[in-house]
Amino acid sequence: RAAGVLAGRHVLVTAGPTHEPIDPVRYIANRSSGKQGFAIAAALAELGARVTLVAGPVALATPAGVDRVDVETAAEMAAAVGAALPADAAVMVAAVADWRVEQAAAQKLKKDAAAPAPLALVANPDILAGLSTDPRRPRLLVGFAAETEQVVAHATAKRARKGADWIVANDVSGDVMGGDANAVQLVTAQGFETWERLPKAAVAARLAERIAAALAG
Ligand code: C5P
Repeated sequence: RAAGVLAGRHVLVTAGPTHEPIDPVRYIANRSSGKQGFAIAAALAELGARVTLVAGPVALATPAGVDRVDVETAAEMAAAVGAALPADAAVMVAAVADWRVEQAAAQKLKKDAAAPAPLALVANPDILAGLSTDPRRPRLLVGFAAETEQVVAHATAKRARKGADWIVANDVSGDVMGGDANAVQLVTAQGFETWERLPKAAVAARLAERIAAALAG
């Protein structure tokens, strides 16, 4: 097969949820399946990119030609992203937990206590925002926004707040999380585009083409 349009490029992708431990057997999680991020990693590799996929806990096979780094927590994801730099582009698809338990218990919490212990939470690092101000910032930085209302307005604000070049916004009020289709809006410095509802693989292929065009330009 001829060398793809992304040959010689390194693209970093984060995908999946993170798990934040409460004690040795319990954790805080979210409904991210990792499907969209894995599809994007696969599409980028198909175009010839070297792809590093930093994956939270998901039940998905590694796409062909992709270097996968498995992590559990947001802190581990942040460290793996840093270790994977430099990259020409980064696509941050992971649904990173916003908070973690400040001090995970070393032993299993027992339910026979008089009242359940309150969980003290602390904020996790924002990996995308951190990358945007990093001296090794990838030339193209793409974030995702999962919203349930005012999707474009929230994504446009998120693009500015996080210092991303593009935000891929999706409305997750329906069956997107865990499903095989996605309806996204691409928010860039120029405004926004609405893409028709497509299989996640097709969203990934279109986004990979756009990334290739942006890195070529
Ligand atoms: O703020 P919010 O979680 O909605 O932002 C979503 C975007 O930011 C996604 O691209 C996600 O991967 C990224 N993010 C991150 N680190 C966090 C939180 C979100 O990289 N701690």
